Amino acid sequence: MDLHILDHRLRVTSICKNGLVNFTHPLIKLIFLRNRARCKFFSLTETPENYTVVLDEEGFKELQPSEHLLVESSVWLPLNVVSNGNSSSSSQAVGVTKIAKSVIAPLAQQHVSVFMLSTYQTDFILVREKDLAVVINTLEEEFNIYREVGGEYSAVLSQDVHNGFQKNGKEAPQLTVHPLLIPQNQFCVMSLDPDTLPAIATTLIDVLFYSNSPKEGALPSQDLDCIKFFSFSLIDGYVSLVMDTEAQRQFPADLLFTSSSRELWRMVRIGGQPLGFDECGIVAQISQPLADNDISAYYISTFSFDHALVPEEDIVSVTEMLRQHRKEPAC
Ligand code: ARG
Repeated sequence: MDLHILDHRLRVTSICKNGLVNFTHPLIKLIFLRNRARCKFFSLTETPENYTVVLDEEGFKELQPSEHLLVESSVWLPLNVVSNGNSSSSSQAVGVTKIAKSVIAPLAQQHVSVFMLSTYQTDFILVREKDLAVVINTLEEEFNIYREVGGEYSAVLSQDVHNGFQKNGKEAPQLTVHPLLIPQNQFCVMSLDPDTLPAIATTLIDVLFYSNSPKEGALPSQDLDCIKFFSFSLIDGYVSLVMDTEAQRQFPADLLFTSSSRELWRMVRIGGQPLGFDECGIVAQISQPLADNDISAYYISTFSFDHALVPEEDIVSVTEMLRQHRKEPAC
């Protein structure tokens, strides 16, 4: 298996809900005017708390400093596992489940904090640039590691990054048990041809920027058990959308596509208080039991909380399994 360190230096930011009006101009440029904004990695996720924006340095330049914009201080690098077809795994599971044991668990064990971004196409594991040497040393046993520079990939040799690095001993990190929330919405993970973005522009603008204004003729939302969650990303020319079935109904049915199995997903939101960026092992605690049970999962970290999406038919067993897993002492 190959692991790619992609050529993007990312910032993780959040825009507060009532500050969004100050950012609509740059966000419209970043979403719809790909040729004007030189941004190659852009992701925007609306949650009840805020809008999380993850973007490369070119994109970050578009966002004016403001009291409404919070910026995590580190530079993050996206990693991506590329299976070269000869994997012996018989698992059909998709998403973070496939990388739980090979990437997520070893990084957590080495106290590396990650920030996850699953998309329709792949799962990005963001790590802090300053942790890169530890990351490479931890993962080189399992992977051939390549670093992308200007579109070219070159093999990373571990001795290039050794610089006094020592693997952590066996002591297990102290795990915090974060509360889980299981909203009632059903989600879909979709994509579309980026050339058809103009055709969904008005719907996307409506959903992203006006979702909180009541619509003419619309019934006031009665369902308090549903969560506001909508994610759009445009990364290296690929679009990915995660939305609930209510938002999906607003889009023209013929442009968005999903995997042939057309699954619906349910969400497990992780965190009661904002999770911050330094704690490690949160993704591992969730993805490990899912991997043990071969249950597919997407995983999206946002500025405040983490979100796992699991197949809707598995939500009851997953909830049970995660609650059980949390009662047992960490070993
Ligand atoms: N750093 C966490 C981990 O390594 C995941 C991200 C949690 N923080 C957040 N703001 N979403 O498991």
